[in-house]
Parts: sequence; structure tokens; C-alpha cells
Amino acid sequence: MRLSASRPIGLITGGGGAIGSGIAAALVRDGWSVVLADRDLVAAKAAAERIGRAHVAAILACDVCDEASVRSVVEQTTSTFGRIDGLATAAGGGKAVGPRTLFWETGRQDWTLNLETHLVSVMTTCQAVLPQMLKQKSGVILNVASGAGLRGGPPMSRQRFAEVYALAKAGVIAFTQSIALEFAPLGVRANCIAPGRAESTRRTADGLLAVGHEEEAREPGSSRLSPLGRFGRSDDLGNAAAFLMSDRSTWITGTCMDVSGGIRLH
Ligand SMILES: NC(=O)c1ccc[n+]([C@@H]2O[C@H](COP(=O)([O-])OP(=O)(O)OC[C@H]3O[C@@H](n4cnc5c(N)ncnc54)[C@H](O)[C@@H]3O)[C@@H](O)[C@H]2O)c1
Repeated sequence: MRLSASRPIGLITGGGGAIGSGIAAALVRDGWSVVLADRDLVAAKAAAERIGRAHVAAILACDVCDEASVRSVVEQTTSTFGRIDGLATAAGGGKAVGPRTLFWETGRQDWTLNLETHLVSVMTTCQAVLPQMLKQKSGVILNVASGAGLRGGPPMSRQRFAEVYALAKAGVIAFTQSIALEFAPLGVRANCIAPGRAESTRRTADGLLAVGHEEEAREPGSSRLSPLGRFGRSDDLGNAAAFLMSDRSTWITGTCMDVSGGIRLH
């Protein structure tokens, strides 16, 4: 690992993914050094190349569903850099839990994988990082939720079968609000972003647009294209996350910022 003493240190789980690498890139632009943790090291190394190696302090193998692996990554980061200024949890996504299927055809095994990947992992990672942030009396946590956690998965066709995912993401929002309240007096802020439909390692934003048009032809209204005329790019999510992790948002905690290009208006 490289030492970058003067820059804040951000740990990003799922740092090899579209949203995780978007967050890492935005943090680097804001003057951070980042540690990318991912179970897919090839993806994490490719992300580091895109971001620019100078401020990627380390790339660490991590399975966020394995508590020992998460603790090891946090320990390696703190022992090398002496601090963790920010945590962004961006591991997961559709590829991690397999194709969606009818809820009544799924079982506990599917639910457990989804909940472990999208909810328990966030709890585990925050729990592992918090003691260091409390020691520092400062730190920012940014959890990646989803629109599904704000308003459920159905009824739009592309969101059907998202019951357990929606439950996990609603849990992420409630969990983040709770840690925000508990740890605010101790110097730690915690917020979420709730991305709308955005690019991932499975599909680029342009690829999503093509799929959206096909869906629209089959079922009008189902593609949920943003009024801005496109789907989300990793930078869109990265910039929102970096703002919530920055000193420009020091009076914002416990919020869930909807980053959906106006698909959902509250
Ligand atoms: N892309 C979207 O439309 C969208 C919308 C709302 C929410 N989200 C959420 O954003 C987060 C990131 O999704 P994405 O679109 O960047 O997906 P992605 O597939 O591009 O990236 C996910 C990354 O997480 C890693 N990962 C998966 N399981 C892991 C595990 N157990 N341990 C460690 N790493 C693991 C993958 O290797 C990958 O690099 C997910 O939580 C997803 O649910 C995405």
C-alpha cells in the first residue's frame, strides 16, 4: 500500500463496480486517496487504471458477506494509514444475487444471499469501521441504497420480483438513519444515496437506453426513463456520494439522497 499522508482516506467496498468506482473517482477528484475493496480483483484493478493509480492507495480482496474478510480489510487500512476518513459501501448489484424470479418461487437460500449481500454486509462494514472513526472523533459513511428501498420494487415490469432486494435496501436506509442519530454527537455522519436505474458492470448507460426502448415498446411506461432523457452514469452517483462525504455537507446526516435524474420526485 502507498502512504498518502495529506489526503483523507476513503474505503470503498464494491470499488471495482460501476457505482463504487464512480464514487472512488469522484473522491479522488475531491482530493482523497482511496482503498478499493472488492471480491473481483480484476474489476478493481481495471477501476484503479480508470481512476488513475496515483491516488488509489490500495486494492484489497474482500468478500463483504464474510465478516472476517471485512475486518481484515479495515485492519489493513487502519494499520497502514492510521485512519479511515470515509467509508462507501457499494458492493452488490444484480450480478451478485442472480436473476430475479417470482417471489413465491424463491426460498430462504435466495433471501439470505440477497439480504447478506445488500443489508448485512453494510451493517458488518459499518460496524468494523466505526471504532476507528470514533477514535478519530470524525468520519463519514455513505451507504448505497436504491430507489427500490424507498418505494418497493413492483409494479413496473423491470422492478418485479424485487421484494427481498427492496427490503434489504429499505433496511440500509433505516440502518443509516439510526447510526446517523447514534453517532452524530461523536463526530460521525452517515448518509445514503438511492440510485435510480444506472449503468453497472452488466450494462452501460447507453445499453440501458436500448433496453429501455425495448421495454417501452412492450409495456408503455415501464422503462422509467429519467425526464433528463438518459439513465445514470457512474459519475452521477459518484459526484452525489462525494458531496455527502465532503466538508460541503457537514450539516447533512441521516439523509437518503435520491439520485435518479428526476424519475422519482418526492
Ligand atoms: N446500477 C443500478 O441501476 C443501481 C440502482 C440502485 C442501486 N444500485 C446498487 O448499487 C450498488 C453497486 O451496484 P453497481 O450497479 O455498481 O453494480 P456492479 O455490478 O457494477 O458493481 C458491484 C461490485 O460489487 C462487487 N461485489 C458483489 N458482491 C460482492 C461481495 N460479496 N463482496 C465484495 N464485492 C462484491 C462486484 O464484484 C462488483 O465489482 C449495489 O448495492 C446495487 O444494489 C445499483
